[in-house]
Parts: sequence; C-alpha cells; structure tokens
Amino acid sequence: MKKLIKEIKGYELLDSRGNPTVAAKVVLNDQSEGFALSPSGASTGAYEAHELRDKDMTRFGGKGVSEAVQNINDKIYPALVGSDCTNQAKVDEIINSLDPTESKKVLGANATLAVSLACAKAAASHYKMPLFRYLGGVNSCVLPRPMMNILNGGAHAKNNIDIQEFMIVPTATIPFSENMRKCTEIYHTLGEILKNYDITGVGDEGGFAPNLKDDQTAIELICTAIEKAGYTTDEFKIALDIASSEWYNPNDGFYYLPKRQKKMTASELIEFYEDLSKKYPIISLEDPLAEDDWSAWQKITEKMGNKMQLVGDDLFVTNTTRLTMGISDGAANAILVKPNQIGTLSETLTVIRQAQRNSYSVILSHRSGETEDTTIADIAVATNCGQIKTGAPSRTDRVAKYNRLLMIEDLLK
Ligand code: PGA
Ligand code: ZN
Repeated sequence: MKKLIKEIKGYELLDSRGNPTVAAKVVLNDQSEGFALSPSGASTGAYEAHELRDKDMTRFGGKGVSEAVQNINDKIYPALVGSDCTNQAKVDEIINSLDPTESKKVLGANATLAVSLACAKAAASHYKMPLFRYLGGVNSCVLPRPMMNILNGGAHAKNNIDIQEFMIVPTATIPFSENMRKCTEIYHTLGEILKNYDITGVGDEGGFAPNLKDDQTAIELICTAIEKAGYTTDEFKIALDIASSEWYNPNDGFYYLPKRQKKMTASELIEFYEDLSKKYPIISLEDPLAEDDWSAWQKITEKMGNKMQLVGDDLFVTNTTRLTMGISDGAANAILVKPNQIGTLSETLTVIRQAQRNSYSVILSHRSGETEDTTIADIAVATNCGQIKTGAPSRTDRVAKYNRLLMIEDLLK
C-alpha cells in the first residue's frame, strides 16, 4: 500500500538559540515525505515530557541530541516501518509502546515528537492536502488571534525585567492579516519609543528587551505604543506570561523575583495582579502562580477567573492528567498547548479536545528555542482553537508561523 511507512531518518539540527534539536523525515511507499523539527524551552515546566540530551560535555556543551536521533533510527524506525501512516493514533501508540516511562525518558520527547509530526505531514502529503486540512477536515476554518509577544524579560532576556512575556492581543474579529498588520505596526512603534531607553536588542522570542525602571513601565510603554500607532486599548489588550514557576521555591512557598531581588507570597502576587488588572487593559495571565502551588491557583481562579483568562502552561504541560487535576480543583480557565511538552501529536490533540469539552480556552504555542517548523500554525487552525502564541514579528523562527497562517488564510478564502 502506498501510504505505508518505508523509511524514517533522524537528524541533529540546530534551533533558534543555536542549540542542537531533533528533526525527523518520514518517507512513504509512494515517496510522499514528511519532515518535522522539535522545539525546546528555556523555562521548562517540571512535569514536561523528557527532553533527551546527551550530556556529553565534549559536544555542544552537553546539549547534543545524538542519542535521541539514534533512538529514531534504531528503535522507532524498525517499529514503525510498514505501518499505515494515516493512522496517527496507532503510529503514536507504537512509539509510546517502545518507552515504558510516562515521561518518555527512554526515547526522549524530542525524538518522539519529531517522528509523530513528520508522520502526519507525510500523510497530508500522501493525500495532497495542506496539513491543517488533513488534521481538521472541512471543519478547519478559524484563524487564531495572535497573542503577539513584543517585549521580553525573565529567562528569555538578559535585561532587568522579571515578567517573561508582554503580549498584545487584538479584540476585533477582523481578518488575520489585518490583525497581523496592526500588531506589527504597534511592535515597530514600540521599537521607536524604546530608542530613548537602555535597550540592547531583542529576546529569545523576538520581543524588545530593554532595561526599565520596573515591570509596570513595560506595560505603560506598550499602552503608549498602541495609541501612538493609531489604535486604542479597547482594540488591543495586553496578555502577560509571568512564568512564575521560575520564581517559586517549593521548600518555603515563597516567590523570589530574581532580577528585582524581591520576595513575595502567593497572596501578595495575587494582589499585585488584581492591582495591575485595575490599572491596565490586561486580559490574560499565564502561569501567574507556580506549577505546584495548586491552592494559590484555586484562589486566583476564584477571584479573577470570571474576568481574566488564566492560562496554565507549566501548570498543565499539555498533559491530560494535569488538566484533569485543574478541572476538578477549579484551577485556571485556559491551557497553553506545546506539543513537545507531551511528545506526540495524538496526545496533543487529545488534551485540546479535553480542554474544549470542559470550556477551557486553548492557545497553541511555540517554545523559546524554535525552528522553521510551522506545525503549530496548522494545528491551531485544524482545531479551531482561536489563539496562538508565537512571538514577535521578528526572527524568522517566529515569523515563519505567522507567514504560514497568512498563507492558510489565503487558502481558506
Ligand atoms: P519556554 O517559554 O519555551 O522557554 O518554556 C515559553 C513559555 O513559557 O510560554
Ligand atoms: Zn509560559
């Protein structure tokens, strides 16, 4: 049969930070091909699937992925050869059966994801369909709203800002390309404004990385940029990724903001967010509390969940078991979906369905270490999830996803 897997090959390539990353090529009997790359995070959640790195200090400072590549060539390929590439659930089940650990410690989620996505792409190519159409069928029709990162701090930038990501979010239901144009204009306007500040460049996700008086000043400058670009803060709201697991010390339960050298309790943080949300047009807070601070998550959801999108990234790590805990505890009302946090396409789609059935919003997301792979754009459209977080309109690794969405918009016309 033409759609059976004939060959799989793994590669050690590079990501946007110059670190090795895993890629995989899948070839079918009819010569259809799929090629995919895994991304990598800097502020990874403790409960993410395992990213396998060689730890051989003589290569790439220990960050090589040759073992993960070897797992593709020596373990996954022999197990999948001859399988029907269009049965994604079965493909992913076979991959998972090769690794007895829940976190994919043996194979590495960087290896499993690359193969899983490459299989889907080979299948789409076999049917001569764009990936989003193969994944979502005729029901794929919603272009996601960009949550566009325009200012970076935290672990993503070497500046003095503790909050990791400052994003703008358009509110109008207008074509994706229109939203992109306007967001990009605001990004450039912010760049002009920041010329008067101490700024050395952009962070990992392409947002500007200035040194500022405090984190609130960043929000004020973004509001100024929105208006100076000719728009209002009714048309563009602000979303923050606090990435507070980076601040949390589970031993004493305090949050330590490393750059400002500040120590805060969860209650103080919640008060801080309430105060921010009164002063500024903030509509979404990601990881406002740490991945293990469930009681504080419940508290913030109770207090702010009816007026604010509260997004679990490190909290849920794209994992159905963690999301089930959140649903039963009343923690968060949205989930960030990063396919490499769980390691296969099927598991990614399952957690999206679970979230959608339970009225949790879904945001497809890139990682801080990215590649030219644009699969998340197709998954966002295929699942009609409505939101995507894929950085600034700067750095090709980020822009590639936006460009893919612009092309999908054209295909859907
Ligand atoms: P990461 O950052 O890829 O470094 O984890 C992205 C995020 O926290 O959303
Ligand atoms: Zn995050």
